[in-house]
Amino acid sequence: MKISGTGSALPKKLVTNDMLAQFLDTSDEWIKTRTGVSSRFVISDERLEDLAAEAAEKALMNAGIKAEDLDFIICSNVVNEYITPQLSCIIQGAIGATCPCIDVNCACAGFIHALEIAESFYKAGRVRNVLIVCAEEPTRMTDWNDRRTCVLFGDGAGAAVLTPGDNIKSIKLSASSATDKLWQYRTLQPTPYITKEEVDVPLQMKGQDVFKFAVTAASSDITTALKRSGLVASEIDYYLLHQANIRIINAIRKYLEQPEEKFPTNVENNGNSSSACCPILLDECNRNGLFKKGDKIAMSAFGAGFVSGAVIVEW
Ligand code: ACO
Repeated sequence: MKISGTGSALPKKLVTNDMLAQFLDTSDEWIKTRTGVSSRFVISDERLEDLAAEAAEKALMNAGIKAEDLDFIICSNVVNEYITPQLSCIIQGAIGATCPCIDVNCACAGFIHALEIAESFYKAGRVRNVLIVCAEEPTRMTDWNDRRTCVLFGDGAGAAVLTPGDNIKSIKLSASSATDKLWQYRTLQPTPYITKEEVDVPLQMKGQDVFKFAVTAASSDITTALKRSGLVASEIDYYLLHQANIRIINAIRKYLEQPEEKFPTNVENNGNSSSACCPILLDECNRNGLFKKGDKIAMSAFGAGFVSGAVIVEW
């Protein structure tokens, strides 16, 4: 398969660090120095499914593919207002597609997991055109009185259209269960039989443990994906990493011993939009004309689970 089109959609409300400092004990200087984030786009009156459909339509237009010609839709999402139906099915209806669809929840690594799932469909000869949409609203998961988490995130949707080709050179996925590092609970409806205690807990994070995991997992996944594709780090033209924190990106860059110009970022303006980060950044780079045909691109993402993954793509 190959990536033939990209699209993205962001909420209109831009929240700067100074705006956060009006109600949190924080500062622009602290957030920028520790995370690289200056501002983020935050959902206000939008619905996530509308942003997802907008990103999908832009990707279809960019690829020159009609919604009715899609054979499968994969949506990566951690949380949205619907528990059911699945977001992919809502997107299917909104864009006028009729194909089957599934949702995956692999936290921030959802785009790489969706690519792996799609690739297995291509290898089985089951599909020609596939749409991946990553739509996330992590700002609805955090406690906005908790300066350790809420400053990190932004919302948005990114999409990619896949068509037949031979441009995915390798993929590596990893998982190592760690439910006490990055987690959130919600209560379900009560029943007459529930005797256990259930509580609503907003997103909790052991920041330094997540930081170490992210650097180790991404370095290892990229190294394995490079080996599988027969390439070395210097042969990669661009590294598109999960936009969690500029310090994580710099640590991975130092491990790979690659120059800064190979690492486009948007964490400064967008914050961390979970699995939507990679396809939104991919779309920005694509629309800015950064990639030439034949460029080698490595993408890598990591998140709650822990799960992570890397992919090597030829543009
Ligand atoms: N403003 C001001 N002070 C703050 C803020 C804030 N927004 N947040 C935390 N602090 C304070 C802490 O309370 C602490 O104060 P104390 O020493 O008086 O207790 C101090 O700053 C240092 O806190 P640390 O947690 O040690 O700061 P650290 O340098 O580790 O930075 C951060 C925290 C940015 C969360 C970092 O650990 C990190 O980026 N971790 C990776 C996690 C990540 O990126 N998660 C994103 C979601 S998951 C994912 O996408 C993989």
